[in-house]
Amino acid sequence: MAKVARPPRPQMFDFHGVPMIDYYTQHWETIQNFQARPDDILLATYPKAGNTWLSYILELLHFGQSSSEHLTSVPLYLRVPVLEVTIPSMEPGSETRIYRGTDFLENISTSPRLIKTHLPVQFIPKSFWEQNCRIIYMARNAKDIVVSYFHFERMAFVHPEPGDWNSYFQRFLEGKMVCGPWYDHVSNWWKKKQSYSKLHYMFYEDLAEDTGREIDKLCCFLGLSPSAEERETILGKIQFDKMKMNDMVNFSKYKGMDFKISHFLRKGKVGDWKNHFTVAQNEEFDEVYRKKMKDPTLQFRTEL
Ligand code: A3P
Repeated sequence: MAKVARPPRPQMFDFHGVPMIDYYTQHWETIQNFQARPDDILLATYPKAGNTWLSYILELLHFGQSSSEHLTSVPLYLRVPVLEVTIPSMEPGSETRIYRGTDFLENISTSPRLIKTHLPVQFIPKSFWEQNCRIIYMARNAKDIVVSYFHFERMAFVHPEPGDWNSYFQRFLEGKMVCGPWYDHVSNWWKKKQSYSKLHYMFYEDLAEDTGREIDKLCCFLGLSPSAEERETILGKIQFDKMKMNDMVNFSKYKGMDFKISHFLRKGKVGDWKNHFTVAQNEEFDEVYRKKMKDPTLQFRTEL
């Protein structure tokens, strides 16, 4: 098998007040000038909040019937491109190729285009608001996010070196993470919901608790009415174990990650933080959380 050259880990830097990496900010002007179409659907999450799960659900809802060959031959990260990303493609034999989200998006001829992003709300290109696009934001509780993000950064070479768990935990509390503090991300998107009616704000925990119910809410928001049979088929395909085995959605085709270290679809559980946090860390986390999360209308569940 051809050897894949691995670029050095990126460094975080302050970008308009938010810690970011070059892979998300290169070609910033192109990103900011991105021309959204009125039927584009933006799928926004903080990293590790379940964007892959959400993307696959949306793909199946929109294209599950019509383009099944596409779904079984093209990896999800090429079908639902990340708006802000510019990274080496890292496919064997193509070390010099660059994967640029906006290039992929411009070449999508089917509609609606499904667009993934981890950007904080203030960085979303203005055309999405001008075109009144539908936006889905999925949030996940902070305790499971920090665990998932830690394991992801261990295995994903396009993110900074995470260091050990204890220092990572402290860094998360301080908000020094790629895409900024979780607290700001979920809260600012929540605030946006008050003024932008085409924003559907949902929670990973709710999706895990009752996937069918959350899909029904999504369909209502999207104006879709799948048949009972289609709905059942989708529910079968988006189970964690099914997705984990599906090479078109589990990121195994992307060589910028080392699956010997961890898996992209790692555990898919609510409450895995309990296997990582010490009692002292949990207390410290809760104290910081109380100080930072003041809005009583935004509530998260850390267990089901
Ligand atoms: P864990 O690391 O806790 O397992 P993102 O796609 O935004 O990077 O989020 C990845 C997280 O979503 C991972 O969490 C992954 O396992 C979880 N996930 C992906 N598909 C899922 C599914 N079908 N059911 C439950 N969790 C899922």
